[in-house]
Amino acid sequence: MPRGPRGHFLLGSGPDFGRDQLSFYAACARQYGDLVPIRLGPRRALLVYHPDAIEEVLVARNRDFVKSPGVRLLLRRLIGNGLFLSEGGFWLRQRRLVQPAFHRQRVAAYAEVMTAYTARRLAEWKDGDVLDVHAEMMTLTQIIVAKTLFDADVSDESYNIARTSNILAEDFGHRIKSIIQFLPDWVPTPANLRTARALRHLDQVVYRMVDARRRTGEDRGDLLSILLQAQDADDGSQMSNEQVRDEVMTLFMAGHETTAVTLSWTWYLLAQYPEVDARLADELRTVLGDRPPTVADLPRLTYADMIISESMRLYPPAYVLARQAVNPTEVAGHPLAPGLVVIMPAWVVHRDPRWFEDPETFRPERWANDLARRLPRFAYLPFGGGPRQCIGNAFATMEAVLILATIAQRFRLTMEPGQRVTPTPYITLRPEPGPRMRLARR
Ligand code: HEM
Repeated sequence: MPRGPRGHFLLGSGPDFGRDQLSFYAACARQYGDLVPIRLGPRRALLVYHPDAIEEVLVARNRDFVKSPGVRLLLRRLIGNGLFLSEGGFWLRQRRLVQPAFHRQRVAAYAEVMTAYTARRLAEWKDGDVLDVHAEMMTLTQIIVAKTLFDADVSDESYNIARTSNILAEDFGHRIKSIIQFLPDWVPTPANLRTARALRHLDQVVYRMVDARRRTGEDRGDLLSILLQAQDADDGSQMSNEQVRDEVMTLFMAGHETTAVTLSWTWYLLAQYPEVDARLADELRTVLGDRPPTVADLPRLTYADMIISESMRLYPPAYVLARQAVNPTEVAGHPLAPGLVVIMPAWVVHRDPRWFEDPETFRPERWANDLARRLPRFAYLPFGGGPRQCIGNAFATMEAVLILATIAQRFRLTMEPGQRVTPTPYITLRPEPGPRMRLARR
């Protein structure tokens, strides 16, 4: 396969990008080290694995980069010019606008919705039931993000939204695999038509939410009201319906699948490591007894928090970050011409034995005594970093811990036999197939 650190990778021998993206990234790091120039079809790219070099891209030299063309291509139709994909002055304005919805106190106020909706869902779970845990987590996090940020109830819609999201994820998954050659969106293949239908459906859900709020003109103080009322400081214009749609869709999509994936992998891991599960149950008994967790309990749910950190280390939902240089720049002394794509695979960085002892093992205890502070800053980057860091970081961490605690207080989940669950790169790193797990009341 490859010809050396400055050579070109020929796809097709060794782990192949199209067939097994994760193994491809790992093999390149093993063979060539921290900086690996490659060619993917017509594009040149640089794989970057060293935390200091990643910091250079995301923080020190962030102005020299924009989101990568691959990410733009994959996501543009879904989330348009919302916060995740916008750039420059426009991005900054929107980020400042959306930020108040994620202030610490505001996020704390969402805790009650998170536990109440989890408890409501749990009321339907019975001892001995077997369920697809990933589908369950997707539904739950969808309902929570819609309720907390847009005060919208999508419980009745959730089945349809889940189906639609799945169609989209599958479509994007195929595109990721065939990133080198695929037909443009507008070619009416059955897959493109199916995707277009799915997108129209999601659009309808979002526009219904926006229209209903515009009609009442009510200020509920939530994110949707903020978006609808925001006025441009220069000309007083309001955000267009399309821009509101893009921001809502961005937050809805970015805000549920990532957390759902984190939780799905967490249940999967807990089932493989019963001693971790038992220690979690102990903590929940000691801190909470029988009552539901609240935001005030979070500082004492330290083991639950470490479990979530460790789960995101082994299975980072955002398994790779990517940027494209827009100015002549450099990374770790390696010159980059405009147009070059930089790929930073968190999947490999998080399993690097230089930073994590016994890296393949699920060991939440490793996070005790402030491991995060002792690591190089970008050895662990589930939420990215620099100005484009995840805006929902605190929201997601709190949500994951609260859902984990609320469920684990009542149920233990075990894997049904005979399943092989594979980390599969879609937009996020999904467990595939969704693990079928049996519920046992504690
Ligand atoms: C475990 C859950 C989550 C993970 C692992 C995660 C991960 C990430 C990562 C890695 C980025 C940076 C991408 C890049 O630099 O290219 C990002 C950006 C973003 N995330 Fe999250 N995220 C999570 C939850 C959420 C939630 C709950 C929300 C909102 C409710 C959210 C909204 C966003 C938005 C809007 C951006 C773009 C920010 C910007 O560019 O200004 N995320 N997320």
